Amino acid sequence: MNSKKTFLNSLLGRMSIEDKVGQLNLLAGDMDVTGVKNSNDLEGKILTGQCGALLNVYTPHTTRALQEIALQSPLQIPLIFGYDVIHGHRTIFPIPLGLSCSWNLELIEESARIAAAEASADGLHWVYSPMVDVSWDARWGRVAEGAGEDPWLGSKIAVSMVRGYQGNNLADPGSVMACVKHFALYGAPLGGRDYHTVDMSRRAMEETYFPPYRAAIGAGARTVMTAFNEIDGVPASGNRWLLTNLLREEWGFTGWIVTDYAAVSEMKNHGTAGTDADAAKQAFHAGVDMDMVSELFLIELPELGKSGAVSENLIDHAVMRILESKWDLGLFDDPFARCHEEHAKQVFMNPRHRKIARQASRESMVLLKNENGLLPLKRRGVIAMIGPLADSRRDMLGCWAAAGDESMAASPLDGLHEAVGDDAVILHARGSDVLISNNNLLDEAIKVAESADVIILVLGENWQMNGEAASRANIRLPKCQRKLAKAMLKLGKPCVLVTMSGRPLELSWEERKFTTMLHAWAPGTEGGRALADVIFGAFAPIGKLTMGFPRCVGQLPMSYREKNTGRPFDQNTAYSSKYLDVPNDALFPFGHGLTYATFAYGPVTASAKEMSAGGSITISAVITNLSDHSASETLQLYLRDLVASVTRPLKELRGFKRITLEAGESRVVSFRITTADLTFPGPDFTPISEPGDFEAMIGPSSANLIAVRFSLM
Ligand code: GLC
Repeated sequence: MNSKKTFLNSLLGRMSIEDKVGQLNLLAGDMDVTGVKNSNDLEGKILTGQCGALLNVYTPHTTRALQEIALQSPLQIPLIFGYDVIHGHRTIFPIPLGLSCSWNLELIEESARIAAAEASADGLHWVYSPMVDVSWDARWGRVAEGAGEDPWLGSKIAVSMVRGYQGNNLADPGSVMACVKHFALYGAPLGGRDYHTVDMSRRAMEETYFPPYRAAIGAGARTVMTAFNEIDGVPASGNRWLLTNLLREEWGFTGWIVTDYAAVSEMKNHGTAGTDADAAKQAFHAGVDMDMVSELFLIELPELGKSGAVSENLIDHAVMRILESKWDLGLFDDPFARCHEEHAKQVFMNPRHRKIARQASRESMVLLKNENGLLPLKRRGVIAMIGPLADSRRDMLGCWAAAGDESMAASPLDGLHEAVGDDAVILHARGSDVLISNNNLLDEAIKVAESADVIILVLGENWQMNGEAASRANIRLPKCQRKLAKAMLKLGKPCVLVTMSGRPLELSWEERKFTTMLHAWAPGTEGGRALADVIFGAFAPIGKLTMGFPRCVGQLPMSYREKNTGRPFDQNTAYSSKYLDVPNDALFPFGHGLTYATFAYGPVTASAKEMSAGGSITISAVITNLSDHSASETLQLYLRDLVASVTRPLKELRGFKRITLEAGESRVVSFRITTADLTFPGPDFTPISEPGDFEAMIGPSSANLIAVRFSLM
């Protein structure tokens, strides 16, 4: 037997049931507040072996001190330290929904690698990321943390994040354990209201919501976090079908499962547990290994184990999974490997990290509209930057900003000054608060903007208007900001509307009024500099939306991957699927994003009319750069299964490529399609592909495609 097994079996053999349950207990420190309650008597519980891990505690100094206490406990088992490193740790990257718009998997993996290096240098072993919840509902504030509406792209991004965090060896000081969340289906709450009930068909689970979790598990994610919601009437944290039958037995997950914050005790709120003991038993029998903050495992499991209500053998398995991860993290070799201040200083926000963060921020931005080619601006004349977010550094970091330091972030105004220097005159006024009108601010902004040649208007959500417990039933810009926008438009000057948010916004009014619209999300530490890079053309925008912007919140939930229905929209008949007051399509659809060039697409051809089962076919498109300078584009491939044993979406993303073409250059871009690309969950949810006719479509967005047909034999 190898030394790991020998050591851990020997350790387990020395543990009382109380010692074992102590390892299943995750307590919250107070360096951040991310849930309903904090834990108390941390040091006492660590000293008596009643704590296996801590969250919301970091820095080499603090983790060292707490580790030292753990090593004074009877069994001297080191602690794991975890934290919500969602889009960077000290160097903050764009929020994940923004970064996903880069469609740059290498860059996304690198961002996670950098986050891991900084988190590890800060005493951490475990990050509660990637959040891979698919969502079709921009009312839900946590879309900010995910990769948008598409499961195929979301799966690829999930894999990139897990690889970035975990690297090849968890003991490597540059690696941390990933935690796939929130398992499962958390992105589909009724009404887009956070924590609300999820009620979903198995088909929707298999076709849309499960794939990214499964991909992350397949990439080797070591831990999974349960979601707050119920599934088929059973809370995820007490759902044995979900956690054991599906996750462990069907998907082969061998890591360990932690609940979300206090979710074990919240099963009493759900109403499936009447007592603390019931809740603890339900969660443990479902397959939960570690209890975040509720302490019901700590309090109830020893008695449940002794009474035989819970098998101590199962407790042993849970404990062993956690001890194995501590071994693999190198904690038994050197519990202080990540507690070195000098090393941390070399790693935090170093020039390389900031450089990559700036590139990530540039690539996350999406040019929604650029009529008359106002962008890129020239560095000349008088430029007025107006808006409540223009001088905000904190809002650059967005929600879940971990240990990000807002004082080190560049606001849009900082970026503008740095980019322009003395080449132009920069004016600034807030014009309003984020949520509250202020006539003095408005009057000042009008006066300032009157003397400008061009206005850059920076509007949107502040960092508290999205993320957890931040759903919005109305996803427009706040009224006070629309009032400011109207005042700026009235001046009749060239105006760039820059919007920031953690979700798709309802921008139909703005789209009618502004010729130039750039969406910057919450772009991170380097966001202000990256915004200036895009505005002045140092970097041409490349972002493509990974979640469509609706025309109206009433369209939600919505996705480009919709089905045809029995009565597809037809403007010539009343009896077709439509609204009386709003078109069916998105204002800015999935895959949409412009740049400072135009491209011609077509023709799109197939290498053959028929593809044999197990064979392949190549779909090609000619794309031409019509502009007088080199330019990049991310073109997309979608497939449609025209007739199948179950209804299939009108289109599904199955490929994308970023290409750079010189002025006037034409190129043939090809995608190889195999049977795997045509596979879907069949009537019994077994993955199948079926002979029949297909459409392959290529274009710059899900709403702008050229199709070609082929058949699978
Ligand atoms: C929060 C979030 C979860 C986070 C956890 C720890 O409630 O739901 O995403 O990782 O608690 O902070």
